[in-house]
Amino acid sequence: MMQISFESKPLEQIAAGALIVPVFEGKKETRFGAAELADDGEVAGKALEFTLLHKPAGLAAQRVLLAGAGKPEKFNSGELRKLAAAAVRHLKGKSIKSIALLLEGELATADYASAAAEGALLGNYEPDSLKTGNDKKFADAFAVAAPDGDAALAAAVERGRILGESQNFARDLANQPANLLTPLKLAEAARQVGEAFGLSCEVLDREAMQKLGMGALLGVAQGSAEPPCLIVLRYWPAAEGSAIHLGLVGKGVTFDTGGISIKPADGMEKMKYDMSGGAAMIGAMRAIAQLKPAIPVTAFIPAVENMPGSRAQRPGDIVTAMSGKTIEVINTDAEGRLILADALTYARRQGCTHLVDAATLTGAIVVALGHLHVGLFSSDDALRDRVLAASKAEAERMWPMPLDDDYVEYLKSAFADLANVGGRWGGAVTAAKFLQEFAGETPWVHLDIAGTAYLDDSKPYMAKGPTGLPVRTLVRLAMDWR
Ligand code: BES
Ligand code: ZN
Ligand code: ZN
Repeated sequence: MMQISFESKPLEQIAAGALIVPVFEGKKETRFGAAELADDGEVAGKALEFTLLHKPAGLAAQRVLLAGAGKPEKFNSGELRKLAAAAVRHLKGKSIKSIALLLEGELATADYASAAAEGALLGNYEPDSLKTGNDKKFADAFAVAAPDGDAALAAAVERGRILGESQNFARDLANQPANLLTPLKLAEAARQVGEAFGLSCEVLDREAMQKLGMGALLGVAQGSAEPPCLIVLRYWPAAEGSAIHLGLVGKGVTFDTGGISIKPADGMEKMKYDMSGGAAMIGAMRAIAQLKPAIPVTAFIPAVENMPGSRAQRPGDIVTAMSGKTIEVINTDAEGRLILADALTYARRQGCTHLVDAATLTGAIVVALGHLHVGLFSSDDALRDRVLAASKAEAERMWPMPLDDDYVEYLKSAFADLANVGGRWGGAVTAAKFLQEFAGETPWVHLDIAGTAYLDDSKPYMAKGPTGLPVRTLVRLAMDWR
């Protein structure tokens, strides 16, 4: 794993294989012999333009990487996170193992220091840990170097390390194929996080869920030989008496074949990512356990595999959810909402006052928003605004979607209280509407991450595969709660 550190040495004394120096558009860098390059137009400061200089005179660092930061007025911590990530990816491709990033002047703030550490960790991540002999392509050490930095900056770097490592932890979980990461293996991972960082972990098995009447969740699970479970991870702050109890509910479908309403073969391998919401919740709890917000937070991850087979539920089956509502399963591929229905009910009975769920729930949200924004649905304006503020600060883009009352009519069934699908139109909204029936009066936000949980192609700042969204937003939501 990459070592993250903070240094407040003078520029000349920063030792590294490469020192990343942000260069802005319209602000000429004249040190390191860069003036000439700027005059020639080779170094213009354009976003993510990189120029590597060897043996810079008078520096302990072996190289300087001039790293284009774009226009200064557009720059923020999100841009720096991307810049650090892309620079690390650039340098590790050249087998440079020890990297530092220079934060001076206006850039020497806690937000930037944290974002730099996060970016370095996120950029160093690769999704191919199961390729033999892939261990050569990582950087070993990353230092945030702020010559005028103080203890506050050092603490921010440490926070960034925790966030970056926890987001990568979520990415690792999401990335594991379904033969290696079954529902029980996901529970084992949550247990280990609990043990390592001091969270209590409880795993409800099939029998316990039967007793609680979780017919919607168990109906999805019945087609698979892999036993289902409901993972519960609890964080409790030292100071008691909080009126708030945040519940994080994450979809944990370790593989989604679609069940009897089976999916086409093309691209089905990506359905190993269908537990990304659950992985994000475990990753967020891993950070929350270390950063210790003032409010209690409990994560609930319904974990199942959605398979066809002689035991699988059929279209037309009617199940009774834990809330008492009956559901006609029109399409067994709309399984996420079924397992989340019971998890939301359980979270409410456990005393959660506010709920946020994250789920790779619908293809329709990808049609609506592409791969750039998480679809955000909410029954409560105040909670919606909290989540949006956190997402903005963390540069995890989210877009508010509608939830008008009359969308619920799309979910009418002739035979049960609700159908599990709402027809062709507005598929992301009707899925959210279905969940709302189970969130009830509890303030609730639903995050549809089907378009943002993984990348089909790599970006300069991130490898292809799992993104770890929205771990940082969830952690900030808990940390900033007043
Ligand atoms: N896991 C899928 C949604 C999904 C699609 C995630 C694309 C990631 C990328 C979900 O369980 C599903 O199959 N949804 C169906 C719902 C439909 C049957 C109403 C869908 O979106 O097609
Ligand atoms: Zn499905
Ligand atoms: Zn699914």
